[in-house]
Amino acid sequence: MRILVVYDSMYGNTARVAGAIAEALRASDEVRLLPVAEATPAALAEVRLLVVGSPTQRFRPMPAVARLVRSLPANSLDGVRVAAFDTRLAIADVHNAVLSFFVRILGASAFAARHIERALTRAGGRPAAASEGFLVDGPEGPLRAGELERAARWALLAAASARGAAGGAEQAPRVAPPPRAHPQT
Ligand SMILES: Cc1cc2nc3c(=O)[nH]c(=O)nc-3n(C[C@H](O)[C@H](O)[C@H](O)COP(=O)(O)O)c2cc1C
Repeated sequence: MRILVVYDSMYGNTARVAGAIAEALRASDEVRLLPVAEATPAALAEVRLLVVGSPTQRFRPMPAVARLVRSLPANSLDGVRVAAFDTRLAIADVHNAVLSFFVRILGASAFAARHIERALTRAGGRPAAASEGFLVDGPEGPLRAGELERAARWALLAAASARGAAGGAEQAPRVAPPPRAHPQT
């Protein structure tokens, strides 16, 4: 199965997640890993599974990722299974009142992955896994312990779903939530 993983990254954390995803999938599939600057709408449509990831910045994907997924013509992802991810701050542990407020109001739409997923499904893609966020402990990272492994598990679920027969967004599998940094709080 041909798989494309496209990502953007400012500080390197999302790039590491994308790398872990590509590596996990390479065991059984033909995987290309592309920074967003090298990805074209045509390349996105040529695969069976398309994985797109971005850091969450100001509740949104990075501009280059948003531009790319929004530029996809209608129906161009017909027959493509899609999976969107982001990296994001661990809101529960960050104690940032503004961030917490918007996350409460906007829910999943406060994060990049949901916006990416929406654009991909608008272009005809069908989710192979529920969109997912992987946690960083500060704006520049590091990634929380265990997140690369969780990303690999999420990607394997998406690949299994894409390899299988039918299944729409409502059946897209979900990976276990991340661990809390301070479970006692
Ligand atoms: C300008 C800026 C805005 C950010 N806004 C958000 C935000 O709205 N929500 C969030 O969870 N994290 C936010 N973050 C933290 C980023 O998600 C974090 O920097 C990113 O996950 C790191 O990924 P990268 O190393 O691939 O750039 C922001 C970071 C920056 C620099």
